[in-house]
Amino acid sequence: MSETTTETLRERIASVPFWFHSIELAPGVVTPGAKTEQELARQLELLDLPEIAGKSVLDIGAWDGFFSFEAERRGASRVVALDHFVWSLQLEPGGVPSPNDPGAWQPSTLPGKRGFDLAREALRSEVEELVTDFMTADPGDIGTFDVVFYLGVLYHIKDPLGALTRLAQVTREVAVIETQAIVVPGFDHLALCEFYETSGLKNDPTNWWAPNLSALESLCRAAGFARVETKSGPRLSLRYTPWRAHRTRIVVHAHKAPPERG
Ligand SMILES: C[S@@+](CC[C@H](N)C(=O)[O-])C[C@H]1O[C@@H](n2cnc3c(N)ncnc32)[C@H](O)[C@@H]1O
Repeated sequence: MSETTTETLRERIASVPFWFHSIELAPGVVTPGAKTEQELARQLELLDLPEIAGKSVLDIGAWDGFFSFEAERRGASRVVALDHFVWSLQLEPGGVPSPNDPGAWQPSTLPGKRGFDLAREALRSEVEELVTDFMTADPGDIGTFDVVFYLGVLYHIKDPLGALTRLAQVTREVAVIETQAIVVPGFDHLALCEFYETSGLKNDPTNWWAPNLSALESLCRAAGFARVETKSGPRLSLRYTPWRAHRTRIVVHAHKAPPERG
């Protein structure tokens, strides 16, 4: 890339008011994401993504698209990035988000989608976009995908069982689910969720529920997945105080097919 092109790219990156993901758009040119490159690399390790080459992938809640572009880089046959909420926000630094108005979800009026659009252009990516609310869209219109990413979305949803039921409907093989979670030492055998009526989790009123691992596994099975594999659970190395809920993140792979009999 010539110096001028690199400079233009840097200017265009700087003109996007907010980046969630740090994405290398050209050698040495990385977007200033709230999630750093190191954090994203660590997250990829924890996700332990299944084989992606030749598979179709749906990334629900894609935001700037880091995981969609990663799926493409790993040789996916087709990648669809789905989002609506942050893509429709007016993300001015320190500004107030515009109302979440479904009528404004036209590609030309999606200020929060500028990062995804620029990244896709700079990477010459063929990732497709789908601007829709996953909770109200007709799953039949979305179609089915071999691998579905559901990363950092579940706790933003008021109806987690409904969300996972939709997820099972669009998943052909496996859904990779990463979520905020709780650990209540001594109660791991019970399926428990903590509910946040207002801004109880990270001061964010769009956070509603955090399950423990047992709840996430059983919700997935109730939603239509046959087998749930824990990839990253509560960190056993941490010393948790008994009788109270601790916050953590967990990752599971939810499979549509039952385990093969050996
Ligand atoms: C915490 S961000 C996670 C972004 C990315 N998946 C990651 O893990 O870095 C949550 C994303 O889910 C999206 N989201 C929340 N509810 C949604 C819904 N009902 N339909 C589609 N996207 C949704 C938000 O717009 C946002 O981009």
